[in-house]
Amino acid sequence: MNMASKKFYVTTPIYYPNGVPHIGTAYTTIAADIIARWQKILGKEVIFLTGTDENAKKVYQAALDSGENARKFVDRLSKEFAKQWKKLNIDFTRFIRTTDEDHVEVVKEILRKTNEKGDIYKGEYEGFYCLGCEAYYTEKDLEDGCCPIHKKKVENLKEPSYFFKLSKYQDKLLKLYKENPDFILPRSRAKEIINRVKEGLRDLSISRKDYGWGIKLPFDKEHVCYVWYDALTNYLTGIGYLRDKKKFKKFWPADVHLIGKDIAWFHCVIWPAMLIAVGIEPPKTVFAHGWWTIQDEKISKSGKLIEIDELIGIAGVDSARYFLFRETPFGDDGDFSKQALIDRHNNELANKLGNLLSRVTGLVEKNGLTKCNNKLLKKLKLKEICKLMEKFELDKALNEIFSFIDECNEYVQEKKPWETKDKKVLYELVDSIKAIGILLWPFIPESCEKISKHLKFKIEFDEINKPIKAGKIKKAEILFKKI
Ligand code: MSP
Repeated sequence: MNMASKKFYVTTPIYYPNGVPHIGTAYTTIAADIIARWQKILGKEVIFLTGTDENAKKVYQAALDSGENARKFVDRLSKEFAKQWKKLNIDFTRFIRTTDEDHVEVVKEILRKTNEKGDIYKGEYEGFYCLGCEAYYTEKDLEDGCCPIHKKKVENLKEPSYFFKLSKYQDKLLKLYKENPDFILPRSRAKEIINRVKEGLRDLSISRKDYGWGIKLPFDKEHVCYVWYDALTNYLTGIGYLRDKKKFKKFWPADVHLIGKDIAWFHCVIWPAMLIAVGIEPPKTVFAHGWWTIQDEKISKSGKLIEIDELIGIAGVDSARYFLFRETPFGDDGDFSKQALIDRHNNELANKLGNLLSRVTGLVEKNGLTKCNNKLLKKLKLKEICKLMEKFELDKALNEIFSFIDECNEYVQEKKPWETKDKKVLYELVDSIKAIGILLWPFIPESCEKISKHLKFKIEFDEINKPIKAGKIKKAEILFKKI
């Protein structure tokens, strides 16, 4: 366990509030919540930042299309995001909105500093722009004149624009990747990005002619800031870059920015270059996960969609959280199926975890306990689990925890405490369930809080190796009802 540092800063991308949250966006947000909670049980002070990316042209466009006033539109939708995250038990520290006053100040400050350094110049942008991606494309990137991701026609732009000298940072970026092999995780994703950087970088257009929305450039009021340049700086605003310097110093660099693979370029290339330009250290890690699909089609606001209520409605919040991180390695793509979720709910959460709890507590209610040295706990691969969590290998960590649940269930079968009435065996089992309840809390907090309340233990990592002070225990209520 790495306790060298007592604080931890994790972020999600800030989401475009041009639609409602869905499994795709929930995935990153739950991952961040799991990682934040894990760091909390380790005893660290954690900042978990999420929020909405509101200055995008596509958000403005969605507001215009809906006929609602744009401010009211983003107010309403950003509230909706926060509300849906609460339903999933997402315990964020701050919900940032890029229309927040402190954020606007930070964007202007970064622009001003970069400009003073001579890294911004005025020119003319001529090329293509995909509103869906909010990204610039060259002819060779397009497929039949369409955006390769959204498969829609792109805008053809020719207008004056300010540019950030991204090309200047090629060597510094390559040095960053070389010296910090964990900067881009999973490592399998790094190669593609590094190769593209090696091919050379084009300067980045960072402004559009003012169209009535967005943050104006501090040095030219006729232009608004390019939305990605604005959005990325939210990671600085969120920990008080200008308004709380002490906090910023304490929490920066971020331990991990969690993102989807589609936005890796912005986070692994543009963002560190922007930071190096103003003399700020890049984040420690950018972790880019895969995409969820439904029958192999990407889940998105404009395509197939499963909203949060529907997701939770299948088998409850904890089962949804569990499924998303158990079904596919965190980093790979996954295909979503309701049946697969129900199967895991029934076979793993109900049959393995739920049964263990109700069986053991039922026997303890009848027979009582005798405190002893818990030899069963030796089968728990705690160090391994910690290492996996540090590397964000969430699926593998879950796998190890569930192997231990299997060990516990086998122990019950082998020792037959319903025949022997062996109170020491029952103590070992209760003490082991405590360890499981602590380790699973980041993933399935609601259920683990029920277990901790029932068995009266604190959800803290250090409690795992402290013998449980269990007194009288009643049979626990069913944790997961089978579907
Ligand atoms: N606003 C930008 C991020 C700015 S961060 C400084 C953005 N927003 S988004 O709402 O379009 O998407 C946010 C995240 O959700 C991305 O990381 C994206 O990969 C993720 N997902 C959206 N659909 C997804 C799936 N179907 N599956 C997994 N993640 C997906 O991009």
